[in-house]
Parts: sequence; C-alpha cells; structure tokens
Amino acid sequence: MLSANEVTLRYDGVIQAVDGIDFRVEQGGLVALLGPNGAGKSTLLKAIAGMLPFEQGELASGDILFDGRSLSGAHPATIARMGIALVQEGRECFRGLSVGENIRAASLLRRKGASARMDMVFEYFPVLKEMRRRPAGHLSGGQLQMLVIAMALMGEPRLLLLDEPSLGLSPTMVQTVFDVVERMHRELGMTVVVAEQTVPRLLKLATDVYVLSRGRVAMHTAPAGVDEKTLQMVYLS
Ligand SMILES: Nc1ncnc2c1ncn2[C@@H]1O[C@H](COP(=O)(O)OP(=O)(O)OP(=O)(O)O)[C@@H](O)[C@H]1O
Ligand SMILES: [Mg+2]
Repeated sequence: MLSANEVTLRYDGVIQAVDGIDFRVEQGGLVALLGPNGAGKSTLLKAIAGMLPFEQGELASGDILFDGRSLSGAHPATIARMGIALVQEGRECFRGLSVGENIRAASLLRRKGASARMDMVFEYFPVLKEMRRRPAGHLSGGQLQMLVIAMALMGEPRLLLLDEPSLGLSPTMVQTVFDVVERMHRELGMTVVVAEQTVPRLLKLATDVYVLSRGRVAMHTAPAGVDEKTLQMVYLS
C-alpha cells in the first residue's frame, strides 16, 4: 500500500533527520515504528502526510508511493483525500469547541455519510459520546487522544498514522487507546502505522516492526524478533 524508497528527509536544507531508509506498509497491516527520541519517527510520518514543507522540511531524495502514486510534492489535503490520516503528537483540536463540534468539523473532508460515520465513531468511543457537549479543552489527556483519533476516523482513512498516542497517558488509558486501535484494525480492516518508543501491547498487535535509530532503519523484523531488551540495546547503541 505504501512504500518509501531510499528516502532522505531534511530540515532547513542541512539537518538530516531520516537518512536513506526503506519503509513498506502492506494493506491491512499494523506496523510498529519504534525508536528513541530524535530517531526520525515523526519526521517520516510527516513526510508521508505531506506536512514537512510547513517546518522547512523536504524530501531530499528517494520517493514515497501510495497505491503506486508518488506523494512527492503533494499537498496534505490531497494526501488526506487519497485516504491517509495523520494523528500528530500534541493532540490538536479546537479546545473551545465541544467534543461533538470537533468531530463534526473533522467531517468536512468527507461530508457524504458523515452522520452515519459519527454514529460509528461514537460506537468506538462511548466516552466521547457521553462527553459530546463538553468543551474539548476540559478533556483529560487520554480522552483528548481518543478525540483526535475519532476526528481522523471521520475522514474515513485507509491508512491511519498515529504518532506516539501513548505519550503521557496512564497505563490503563494506554490500554484503552490500544484496544480501540486494535478493534479498528480488525473490524474496519484499517491499515495502521503506530510510532512509539516502547509499548509492549503494540508489539503484541503489530504485524511488522521497524526500529529507527538516528534516521536509519536499525531493525526490520517480525514482532516475534523484538523484545524490550533488544530495543534497549538498539536505543543505547
Ligand atoms: N521542525 C524541525 N526543524 C529542525 N529539525 C527538526 C525538526 N523536527 C525534528 N527535527 C530533528 O530531526 C530529528 C528527528 O526528529 P523526529 O521528531 O522525527 O524524531 P522522533 O523519532 O519523532 O523523536 P521523539 O520520540 O522524541 O518524538 C531530530 O534530530 C530532531 O532534532
Ligand atoms: Mg516524534
């Protein structure tokens, strides 16, 4: 479905964040993109979603193909319409608007069938249904994470990219978020890439694992090939 071939990504023309990597996502897969701070995970996800130009970043060489079409130079809105959604770090939404209003606003990309999709989203996130009249600014970190994933779902993506969804959440909340990710993957057949530093649960769900270190692929393996200890060794090297 997606393939990044010998991709090098730079900021400000000089900062090499990703250095000649190959990264593939099969249709229906759930790919864990692991790596320590600064490994290049977010940069790769932003490149796929077309967001790099907004941070003076660029695809310096290589190509990223989605369904065989190059994403190079494509605007984020075009990429979103092609079926890719990126949930960035930071859990950004309209904090002054209610949960329901945020979800409705996210349906602008695909208005057709929006109300049926909203019902489906509420079925996946009952807590958001309960809180639909509450301002988003009043949600907890975990609830906000659910809201931004719910907003991404409103665009009916075929490929969902999640950047460190577990950041700053309690273990129970991480569990809840990953339960929903697993259900979406299984029931909706959604292809998912999750960037994380470590989440044992993610390793259990993943169909394929990439470990980045300093902008390179340090490891590409089946989930059975990684455990916390191997990761620590890669992270410390
Ligand atoms: N907007 C930016 N401008 C310049 N350099 C950047 C920018 N964003 C990231 N970098 C640099 O690119 C490299 C990769 O960063 P990136 O954010 O992709 O790492 P990451 O794997 O997502 O790390 P983390 O787990 O901390 O989120 C780092 O060296 C970082 O300092
Ligand atoms: Mg990051």
